[in-house]
Amino acid sequence: MKSFELAKESSPLSLTPKFIFPESKRPNLSEVKSLDSIPIIDLSYCHDKNHSSLEVIHKISKACEEFGFFQIVNHGVPQQACHKMMKAITDFFELPSEERESLYSTDHTKSVRLLNYYLKVEDGEKVKCWSECFSHPWYLIDDTVSLLPEKIRTQYREALTEYAKEIGSLVRRLLGLISIGLGLEEDCLLKKLGEQPRQRAQANFYPPCPDPELTMGLTEHTDFNALTVVLQSEISGLQVNKDGKWISVPFIPNAFVINLADQIQVLSNGRYKSVLHRAVTNNVSPRLSMAMFFGPNVDTTIGPIQELIDEEHPPKYRNYRFSEFLEEFFNQEGSKRMVKEAFELPHENS
Ligand code: OGA
Ligand code: NI
Repeated sequence: MKSFELAKESSPLSLTPKFIFPESKRPNLSEVKSLDSIPIIDLSYCHDKNHSSLEVIHKISKACEEFGFFQIVNHGVPQQACHKMMKAITDFFELPSEERESLYSTDHTKSVRLLNYYLKVEDGEKVKCWSECFSHPWYLIDDTVSLLPEKIRTQYREALTEYAKEIGSLVRRLLGLISIGLGLEEDCLLKKLGEQPRQRAQANFYPPCPDPELTMGLTEHTDFNALTVVLQSEISGLQVNKDGKWISVPFIPNAFVINLADQIQVLSNGRYKSVLHRAVTNNVSPRLSMAMFFGPNVDTTIGPIQELIDEEHPPKYRNYRFSEFLEEFFNQEGSKRMVKEAFELPHENS
């Protein structure tokens, strides 16, 4: 029996019990702040590598310390590339659900798969998130595309090829700006993340939901990689935790949402935060997002960067191989994860 058929379940729309979250885990949408939001940073002053504006670096650094999240505009990625990518994932999720079914897998070692996140509740039951997520690498694009229905292969291949190239250079540029903001050499973070970085994409689909108060699109989490670039469709749904409160991330045309993930928190020795975020549903229209994750490969050793450690700032984390971190991450599937916490060093009070 297939355990995952959201598209079928939701047509006609019905919120069956397996999507209904226990009361304490529901989104409480009336308490979400829509006035505050994450910083919006204009990158148009620093397209030329030699003219990285100090003001932009300062804004990014402040956003990284205070929010762990920001939006960027005038980032240099052609609008066309973004539109094509959004269209390709839209067409993928608009396929009849039977045509995606063979991609669905609960095996996290599968490089290309469709997955459905869930929350484990007290009695071990799984409550499903109101979303479908398509996870695949940025590279070896033909391997991904060969698993797709014939009619969307060419479109997906073309869109992803261009998009991955653009996001690859954007990520490198951002890592440079973030490194400088930390007082490091421009290439420091990129070097620390090592050869053959882990580059994975996750296309997220949130169908309209009859009662957004009862379920979640994605439960609260931090990203486990180093840096994430999110392209979102026109309806908002992403929310970021700021000082214990949820704030909504508005859709801005031609912007990317950037968030720091766990590895940068560790590398920066806790100075920059990998912040909790979640996706809520709406009852108006489908929402889509494309998250591009950039991180170390499994063999890379990660730990606080030497230059950021001194007597006043003793290391907060031990060094580990990224494979260890991933193992811990997958062991905590379905629960509110505390992954980086497992690598914290004990405080010394002397
Ligand atoms: C993610 C994520 C948010 C969104 O894929 O990790 O947080 O807006 N996505 O879909
Ligand atoms: Ni995320």
